[in-house]
Amino acid sequence: MAGKDFLREAAEAPETPLDVSLRPPMFGEFTGQARIVERLELMVDAAKARGDALQHILLSGPPGLGKTTLALILGNAMGAEVKCTSGPTIEKAGDLAGLLTTLPPGAILFIDEIHRLQPAIEEYLYPAMEDYKVDIIIDQGPNARSVRLNLPKFTLVGATTRSGMISAPLRSRFGMSCRLDYYEASELVQIVERSAGLLEVPIDAGGSREIANRARGTPRIANNLLQWCRDYAQVRARGTITAESASAALAMLDIDGDGLDEMDKRILETIVHRFGGGPVGLNSLAVAVGEESGTLEEVHEPFLIMRGYLHRTPQGRAAMPAAYTKLGLTAPARGGQQTLFDA
Ligand SMILES: Nc1ncnc2c1ncn2[C@@H]1O[C@H](COP(=O)(O)OP(=O)(O)OP(=O)(O)O)[C@@H](O)[C@H]1O
Ligand SMILES: [Mg+2]
Repeated sequence: MAGKDFLREAAEAPETPLDVSLRPPMFGEFTGQARIVERLELMVDAAKARGDALQHILLSGPPGLGKTTLALILGNAMGAEVKCTSGPTIEKAGDLAGLLTTLPPGAILFIDEIHRLQPAIEEYLYPAMEDYKVDIIIDQGPNARSVRLNLPKFTLVGATTRSGMISAPLRSRFGMSCRLDYYEASELVQIVERSAGLLEVPIDAGGSREIANRARGTPRIANNLLQWCRDYAQVRARGTITAESASAALAMLDIDGDGLDEMDKRILETIVHRFGGGPVGLNSLAVAVGEESGTLEEVHEPFLIMRGYLHRTPQGRAAMPAAYTKLGLTAPARGGQQTLFDA
């Protein structure tokens, strides 16, 4: 039955069709990260002119900024096949060997969350990256022997939200390393407008600015907020997303005018009220706010630091004056606070 096939296809699709259609397919539609895009485009032009594969590329940065999107764009720009996998799903060296030996020449192997590769697998990757060779074990027991296979030239694109967790030997094997940064509000306005166009959502300039301002510098969040604001406008505000309807919609999600959500505010309140402004260690803070320390470190902290609410010291996390202002308090002029700015 046609209906059944449709359901099965939808369930097996790696991403929702909606998300795929919002993902820019080429550099020209990718807004922001200008310096990185310029570098990558240059690498693509050079590799194509030489008829060669791209160098290995490491993309790092907080979630939702476009790492996977850029890997797919690189594939499109090179006209190369992109095979996607992720660090934790490669359990045995054999899994990786299977992937590498079936890559067509010039293909891109995209390894997401590459910081989560097991050390033994990481080491197995080194000769593949450097010399395009892998050792595979054939036969078993006393006859077992290792055979060195030549691989076609390929490009490894690694993505990570925790660049600090990449070992030095792995890092050094990437010819290019790009760190994605949070987007400017003006760039997010363009992304929201593009997505609204694709989704055929009526939105005015005030509406896209409101969403952009509250999207924590992150395109994925901007797209999610856009879809929430569309629902809100459809039910409560005659369909068009305006500054007013977006603001009311986002207030319902407890996202404030600066894009801080409940957890961000809880983090600031906890540091200020429970830990006297800090510094407080990451693990104590995680327990106190009831969130995983990894999520604090990857998602909340970089944004709060970028916006000047938090400061990272060798002793832990400390509140900056902006955090006090956000909570409607006056920053204390204590001697202890002084060290925060010296650190
Ligand atoms: N520069 C951009 N312009 C337009 N849309 C973008 C851009 N960057 C990202 N997006 C949108 O944001 C979504 C999230 O991007 P992407 O999946 O590439 O993030 P990521 O960095 O891989 O995140 P994660 O670390 O969670 O895997 C994409 O589906 C895409 O629609
Ligand atoms: Mg991704």
